[in-house]
Amino acid sequence: MSPAGHRTAPMTVLAVGDVVGSDAAGWLADRLPRLREEHEADFVVVNAENCAVTGPIPMDGFGMTVEVIDRLLDAGVDAITGGNHSWDGPDVDDVLAYPQVVRPVNLDETRGRGLITLTRGDRTLTVINLLSPTAALPGMKAPQPEPLWPSWTALAAAEDLPGAILIDLHGESPWEKASLAAALDGQVSALVGTHTHDPTLRGHLLPAGTAYVAELGMTGPLGFTGGGFDPAHFAARLRGEDHTALPPYELATGPMSLGAVRVDIGADGSATAIDRIT
Ligand SMILES: [Fe+2]
Ligand SMILES: [Fe+2]
Repeated sequence: MSPAGHRTAPMTVLAVGDVVGSDAAGWLADRLPRLREEHEADFVVVNAENCAVTGPIPMDGFGMTVEVIDRLLDAGVDAITGGNHSWDGPDVDDVLAYPQVVRPVNLDETRGRGLITLTRGDRTLTVINLLSPTAALPGMKAPQPEPLWPSWTALAAAEDLPGAILIDLHGESPWEKASLAAALDGQVSALVGTHTHDPTLRGHLLPAGTAYVAELGMTGPLGFTGGGFDPAHFAARLRGEDHTALPPYELATGPMSLGAVRVDIGADGSATAIDRIT
């Protein structure tokens, strides 16, 4: 991969999937300095769209709060991405105002930003958050996203995207994520999927230098189905029952799980390795 403007010093990036709940954010924050040192990571990118779930919650309580975002940033997180829940919770305006917080770029929203360029010494990484229409369901607060490919081509034409490029594609379908990764092979350094919360075992290096993993996996309590939540509401919706009559969503219990990969990127912006971190 050597499109003009994509050169950077080689780097290692840690990409962490959907943090579920403030306890999980604290758990990650406590471990981040060691993870960073162990992997000699230059940048840490964390999807935290569910980081402010703190217990029984209403339907719109899956988002982020200033308190939890501060905890992650204080621990050394460089960029915080989101998804369909970037618009949930009481602190949306304040959270989107953080320069390190990146909300999906492919929708009609004037608050916040859809991409961020990070620099550390002579290393440069641009982080972009895309939201698939598959993850923005009716009744959610997220604006309806524009289709992925036209959004990407418009973005690439309009914006300078310096250094290595990492895309967090927040969506339901692994085939859609693989298709976009293949379509972008050689144009971006990495495409990592988020939103389904269940980690994909393998990462892949595509022929022209893009690293790809379908799903980073959630970071949070592993009990129940592994999504971080008690799935009672999901089961009720599948049965066609009125899930709003149930007690509010609750977090899962059980041990914490880390959903994350490490991506190594060379001087021409091509990825050289993608490995799951457990
Ligand atoms: Fe999520
Ligand atoms: Fe999501």
